[in-house]
Amino acid sequence: DTITHDHHPLVPLKGFYLINGTHDPEDVDQIHNLEIRDSDVFVVTYPKSGTIWMQQILLLLEAKGDVTAISKLCNLSNADLIPWIEVKGNREAFISAPSPRLRVTHLQYRFLPPTLSQKKGKVIYVARNPKDVLVSYFYFHKVANMLETPKSFDDFFEKFLRGEVFGSSWFEHVKTWYAHRDEMNLLFITYEEMIQDLRLAVRRIALFLGKELTDEQLDSVVTHSTFSNMRKIPQASYEQVSGALLSHHLGKFMRKGTVGDWKNHFTVAQNERFDRVFLQEMKDFPLSFIWDN
Ligand code: A3P
Repeated sequence: DTITHDHHPLVPLKGFYLINGTHDPEDVDQIHNLEIRDSDVFVVTYPKSGTIWMQQILLLLEAKGDVTAISKLCNLSNADLIPWIEVKGNREAFISAPSPRLRVTHLQYRFLPPTLSQKKGKVIYVARNPKDVLVSYFYFHKVANMLETPKSFDDFFEKFLRGEVFGSSWFEHVKTWYAHRDEMNLLFITYEEMIQDLRLAVRRIALFLGKELTDEQLDSVVTHSTFSNMRKIPQASYEQVSGALLSHHLGKFMRKGTVGDWKNHFTVAQNERFDRVFLQEMKDFPLSFIWDN
């Protein structure tokens, strides 16, 4: 399952695609051996499913809704404050980091420490309907310098269905994490639920993390994690992430933030094809997804 074109930015590790340069496969392979503390929290997502959004909510919950506590750290982005465990150098830093260690990851279940399955630490899994994930990922490939610019939407559509992207198969990612949910302290939440009722989502997350906030503090968390408000906060929209990583002139990381944008991109034939694959892959999956609003 190795991708054969020259200079391809993806590199497989045990059947899972990582980004060449951003990730060091040998290092990622060691994540499995990390010692987990009860206070550790991992936000797990397939790419483009609401990672930055959950970073924002967790940071605000930690600060009890006090946005000034976060804006004091103005030259740090959400990704510096709640880093990806799999990005080069971050595994080392995790070992000696003070509690609570809040991290995000796009990794598959098998790469994370098995002690998570003995109910050590906490996991928040955010899932998003895969048609919107595909569209969001297509635009992200244009902006992100570490990823290959898609030849066309058509071409990317096929790559996504084949799992030839960082994160590999969306279907496998969601199914595998979901299958292990009862072994872990895991909260499974969807992007669409967060869109429909952000306050309810934030309350569920706070409850799961054992955070007690007043109604006022909760309101502040909600207000400062809406799409329009996050867009105004440079650290919460990755606006100040280095131009070496993101070509900001080619598009915004905080692109659209809606449910159902796939309808503006999929052809009828593509939609039918996607539905066939989805049905096949997800036939035993008990949850349904929200495809439009
Ligand atoms: P779109 O490209 O569809 O706009 P990730 O952080 O996992 O890469 O996900 C990014 C996607 O989440 C983008 O989707 C982004 O706009 C969306 N997003 C981020 N914050 C959001 C928010 N507060 N409300 C709604 N969508 C948000």
